[in-house]
This record gives sequence, C-alpha cells and structure tokens, in this order.
Amino acid sequence: MLKLSDFKHRRKQLMRRMKKNSVAVLASAPASIRNRDVEYPFRQHSDFHYLTGFHEPEALAVFAPGRKQGEFVLFCREFDLEKAIWTGHHAGLEGAKTDHGADEAFPIGELHEQLPELLENRDRVYFPIGQDAEQDHAVMSAVNVLRGRARSGAQAPYEFIALEHVLHDLRLFKSPEEIRIMRKAADVSVLGHLRAMRACRPGRREYEIEAELAHEFALHGMRSQAYPSIVAGGANACVLHYTQNDAVLHDGDLLLIDAGAECENYAADITRTFPVNGKFSSPQRLIYELVLEAQLAAIEAVRPGRRWNEPHDAAVKVLTKGLIRLGLIEGKPSRLIKDEVYKRFYMHRTGHWLGMDVHDVGAYMVEGKWREFEAGMVLTVEPGLYIAPDCLDVDPCWRGIGVRIEDDVLVTKDGREVLTSALAKSVEDIETIMAGRS
Ligand code: GLY
Ligand code: MN
Ligand code: MN
Repeated sequence: MLKLSDFKHRRKQLMRRMKKNSVAVLASAPASIRNRDVEYPFRQHSDFHYLTGFHEPEALAVFAPGRKQGEFVLFCREFDLEKAIWTGHHAGLEGAKTDHGADEAFPIGELHEQLPELLENRDRVYFPIGQDAEQDHAVMSAVNVLRGRARSGAQAPYEFIALEHVLHDLRLFKSPEEIRIMRKAADVSVLGHLRAMRACRPGRREYEIEAELAHEFALHGMRSQAYPSIVAGGANACVLHYTQNDAVLHDGDLLLIDAGAECENYAADITRTFPVNGKFSSPQRLIYELVLEAQLAAIEAVRPGRRWNEPHDAAVKVLTKGLIRLGLIEGKPSRLIKDEVYKRFYMHRTGHWLGMDVHDVGAYMVEGKWREFEAGMVLTVEPGLYIAPDCLDVDPCWRGIGVRIEDDVLVTKDGREVLTSALAKSVEDIETIMAGRS
C-alpha cells in the first residue's frame, strides 16, 4: 500500500523537474452517469492518483513550488452528511489535508475564484493540454482573469506546457513499492488464469470462463480488472480485442484468454492460449510452439542497454522463419521481414509499457531513437499468430488458429524478471494442468 509520504515524494519529484517559476494544474477523472442516477464505477485518472492518492471525482490539484501557504492545493467536494449517509465516506476539506497531505483545501465550487491567484505571477503553467475541455477551460479562464487585471499589476502566465511530458517519464520508472503492488496484481492474475484453465471444458461458454477469472480476482480483493477480459474460443482469438465472450467452447478448439487484475490501480496483463479439451492438436502445437519460441527470444532481448524495438525484432525474426518452415509464407526471411509479410498473421507489436494504465505512459522513442531499457521499467512481451478462417489460400489445417502468449516483464539492473512466470506456458505444463482437471 502506498503511503502519504510516497505521494509526497512524487509531488516533490515533479516539482523538481518543472521549470523555474511555474505551476501545475491537474483535474481528477469525472464521475460518469451510466443511466439516470446510477454512476459507472469510479476509477481515478492515473496521473491524478499518482500525484495525490485522492479517490474522488470533482477534484483539482494545484502544485505550486515555493508557495508560502503550501505547495499542494486541493479543490474537492465539501463534506456532506446527507451524502455520507447515502454513499459513504468522502474526504471533505479536512480529510484532503489530514488523509491526503494537501497543504490547503478549497471547495471545488470556489475553483474559478481561487485559481487565478494560484497562477498569478507564474511564468508558465503545466497541465494536460487538450485532454479535457473542462480542465482546459478552467485554466484558460483563470489566465484570462489575470490578463484582465494587468493594469492592476497582475501578471498572467505566458507559457503552457503539456504536464505529461514531465509526469509520464516519472511514471515509467516504477519504485520498489510500485513493483511490490504490480507483483501482487501479477500473482493474483496468474491464479485467475490457472483457475480458468482448470474450469475449461467443451460445452462451456466463454463468459463462464470469464466469470472464473473475475471470481478469483475478487476473492483476493481485486474487484476491478485492468481491462475487459478477452475470452476467445477458436477463431474468435483472431479478433484481437474480442470481448463478446459469449460463444460455446468446442472440443478441438483453442481458447485464448487475455486478462489481468488491477491491484491498487496497477495492472497485470497476461495472455495464455490452451486447448479447450486439454490436448493440443498437431497443427495447434506447431503454431503454439512457434509463438512461444518467439516470445522467449523477445524476453531475452529485454535488458538494460537494449532498445525498445529489439524484443519486437527478435519475435518477428523467429515468427517469419517459422512461418516459412510451416509453409504459410514463402521467400527469403530477410526479404519477407523487410516487406513485413508476417503482418498478415502477426499484425500487432510485441508489447507496451505496463503500469497504472494497461497500455502505460512513457515515451517509446527519445530524440528520434527507440528508447533504451533501464531498470525499473515494466513492459509486456506478447507475440502472437492469427490465421483467420477466411485465409483460404493456406492449408485448411491452420485456419481459425489464434495464439498469443503474454507475460509482464520488469527490467532489472542485470537483465529482467518475468513477473508472471509462475503461470504455465509450455505445451507439457499446460497439458499436465489440464489433465488434472476434476
Ligand atoms: N490486453 C491488452 C493488451 O494485451 O495489450
Ligand atoms: Mn493483454
Ligand atoms: Mn498487453
């Protein structure tokens, strides 16, 4: 669990990186109505959570380095007894200070009155420009108020900087405490996948298996999934972000599951593909083992000093050679790679940063070059092969096979650690687990 001091440390880091005489403004996620008076489950915006740990909508934080009355100002809902009776705890202005470390707290209703003063005489404002119309409006209205007071000596900020540019680089490097939380998300996700493997059998529906995952996650206190689970039987696996999850699972098909739990706002992201009846057919096994070979090669390419593109390039090389070997494509590997012929069966990249957002923030290129891996970064490694049923020019034995294998990988000082390695992925290990189903 992150402590008040962890959030304070992050705010300090941000403020240290901000240019001279600047201020940063960041709004919470909004509450969203699902229908009439029912709201969608609230999930705080990851940037806002990262800097404040504050879990309510209708809030806005101001980070003002060097401000005499305090550097962290939080606008939020006032405590309301009636609201507390109906929907439970909310921090109020006092809680914003005592529980969340705000130096000063104001009612969100006073934002338009107070924000100009917080921006006055600052040269530049950091905020997520263009991300949210209301937030843009709040900042620019405050700036315009100050412009209107120029003759009274007020100075309005004149430079506007995207907050993400600084903030997302901080988020890319996970602290030991963040890694501990991500390990928990990974461990519980592994249990969920294991439960799904054990529950799978012909005749069950995809949503029944989805329920097994959600059940296991929730049993460990992880009531939110990091993203909608993909539970895709047979050719549904060839739809990359399939979430319909309502088809019957057939004997002889594969089942692809891409699912991860969210722990204290941090994601896990795991994919496993296994046979519905517990035994890989020969063509399924050939495709599966090729994807696994590509995944292992890609994981090998993750280490400090290697660059972001290297795991992908390693996977593409293995997959291309394997596709030639299996007779799915023809030609010289180097030519086929150059022409991206593999894209017909492998149309996505090999991974992404992982953190509070499943597709986490952080630049992939720096100064025109793929970024080098450094200790503390976390990424996924997830090659796949998808041979859709309408690939009529390939041998029918391959059609409808979709395989992806995805693990979460932490870059360490000397190499890497696969956070999700406890989950079986060799053909033998998967078949052993499935043979033990009751
Ligand atoms: N679960 C989404 C992804 O693997 O990128
Ligand atoms: Mn995934
Ligand atoms: Mn992923």
